[in-house]
Parts: sequence; structure tokens; C-alpha cells
Amino acid sequence: MIYGIGCDIEDIERFYSYINKENYLNKIYTQNEILELNTIKNERKKAEFLASRYAVKEAMSKALGVGISGEFSFKDIEVYKDELGKPYIIYKDFITHITISHTKTTAVAFIILEKREKNYDTR
Ligand SMILES: CC(C)(COP(=O)(O)OP(=O)(O)OC[C@H]1O[C@@H](n2cnc3c(N)ncnc32)[C@H](O)[C@@H]1OP(=O)(O)O)[C@@H](O)C(=O)NCCC(=O)NCCS
Repeated sequence: MIYGIGCDIEDIERFYSYINKENYLNKIYTQNEILELNTIKNERKKAEFLASRYAVKEAMSKALGVGISGEFSFKDIEVYKDELGKPYIIYKDFITHITISHTKTTAVAFIILEKREKNYDTR
């Protein structure tokens, strides 16, 4: 059953200024995300990474219907990649579908959240 959908679009430009702002990074991003950020060499790619991950978090907050709030905070999710580079997230008992895209100037994320049916077959 579809529980919710959420999307978010971010200007990449503003994320350049966050690349070395430790306090900001620690407030918004998980430790794994910060570690991943530090493996990226190129400043543009770093800003794109921060923007897209931020977009994912806001998209998720909208799919849940609660916004960034006491019920859902920035560090509650992080993006993983499968062996082909497809992103996925794990959150509670939801089935999540996520897609990310960027241009030179913007990053966008779109999420569909499914609630598992009681007799959901996981095979
Ligand atoms: C829900 C939230 C993520 C929206 O993000 P935003 O950046 O303010 O605005 P966006 O343009 O991305 O999205 C706005 C749309 O979100 C939708 N929206 C608002 N609350 C929502 C909710 N609870 N569930 C789903 N969608 C929601 C609305 O449709 C709104 O568009 P509208 O005003 O034209 O109807 C936002 O309210 C929020 O929680 N932001 C937290 C930001 C924050 O804490 N920043 C601090 C960084 S240090």
C-alpha cells in the first residue's frame, strides 16, 4: 500500500559554503555521509553530494507527512547504493523507492513510501 510520496529540489550553490562547516554537517548529515563526503575530491561534487542528500531527507519528511520535526529528523536516514549504483534507504518497516537527479545547478529527490501489508511476501 502506498503510504506517501515526497519530492524536494535544492540549489547546489548554497551547499558550497557548508563543505567545511563541521557544526552544520554534524547537525544534518550522518557520520557515514560525512565520511563519504570526505572521500570526494572535487568541490563541485561535494556540493552536489550535500545538496542531493539534503533533498533526500526533505523528500522523506514529506513522504512521511511530518516534515523535519520531532517525528523525523535529518539524521534518521542515509542513502546506500547497490552494486549498480542504485540508491536506496532503510527506514523502519517501510518499503522505500527513491530516485535522485542533478543538473549543474540543482539536485532533486523523489521518494515513494510503501507500508508493508500484514501478509507481505518478502521473497
Ligand atoms: C516539509 C518541509 C521539509 C518543506 O520544505 P521547505 O524547504 O520548507 O519547502 P519546499 O519548497 O521544499 O516544500 C514546500 C512544500 O512542502 C509541502 N509540505 C509542507 N508540509 C508538509 C508535510 N508535513 N508533509 C508533506 N508535504 C509537506 C507543501 O506542499 C509545500 O508546498 P506549498 O507550500 O506550496 O503547499 C519543511 O517544512 C521542513 O520541515 N523543513 C525543515 C527545514 C529545516 O529544519 N532546516 C534547518 C536546517 S539547519
